[in-house]
Amino acid sequence: MLIPTINPLSATHAELDDLMNIGFCHVKLPDENLVTKIQTCLKVAREFFQHSMEEKQKWQLKDKLNPGDRYQGYALRSQSKNTNAIEQIFFEPDEPFGPYKTYSSLIEKINEYYINQIYLPLIKAIFARLQLSNDNFIAATKNAYRSLVFQSCPSTGELKNVIRLNAHKDFGLLTILFFEEPGLEVKYQNDWKAVPPQEGCVVVNLGNALELMTGKQCCSALHRVTNATDNRISMVYFIQPNYQQPVRNYADNSIVAETGELFFRQQFAEYYETDH
Ligand SMILES: [Fe+2]
Repeated sequence: MLIPTINPLSATHAELDDLMNIGFCHVKLPDENLVTKIQTCLKVAREFFQHSMEEKQKWQLKDKLNPGDRYQGYALRSQSKNTNAIEQIFFEPDEPFGPYKTYSSLIEKINEYYINQIYLPLIKAIFARLQLSNDNFIAATKNAYRSLVFQSCPSTGELKNVIRLNAHKDFGLLTILFFEEPGLEVKYQNDWKAVPPQEGCVVVNLGNALELMTGKQCCSALHRVTNATDNRISMVYFIQPNYQQPVRNYADNSIVAETGELFFRQQFAEYYETDH
């Protein structure tokens, strides 16, 4: 299996079929400039994670969010009792948070590129390939909820070959990842296959919402991080369905969830309440 490298604006049928089957692809970034911007963001996270716990906890995610609160903050958490904790800092890209406040124009450029040059053209091409209407494409992608997460696998000391991030599927429509160290693996035909970083590229993977919206014609693939270098860091851009409108299966026009927000909550609960 070879993860395809796709240009979202000119993807062939064969490339789209591979993506829908494997659930993963690489997308080449347009120039060094954008890569440098992303690397700067990673550097900010790396420096932030090196601060003392006391300093980091000033930016701690609130235990309880009130209506209207932004989902943003610092967290050190495990997916389950079986895994090592990962460190995260996350925020919504239209309001950079904590150490990213001074980098808002940089985040804006990355955000704009990801939305207009990767996410929208790729979903549009998938919908066209599956003969789902352009109106459905517009409804499916309108006002998607986005969040940006920087995460790191802290050192595990002497322990090697440990799973850093458990096998899981992403909840949303699509996820755009940037990382420079190996460790990511995808399950394909009952085998774990490496998804190595490719220079100047992001990795894109399809999520559960897209799988359900397309009547399971797209694969939301299981993936995990293992055998990673200490302090492997990645930038993860999640795109979720619109929180206010229903999530629909456009293949048979049934309702998957009453709203995108409820869909996300169901997925979150199922995932975190399952012991991995
Ligand atoms: Fe994931």
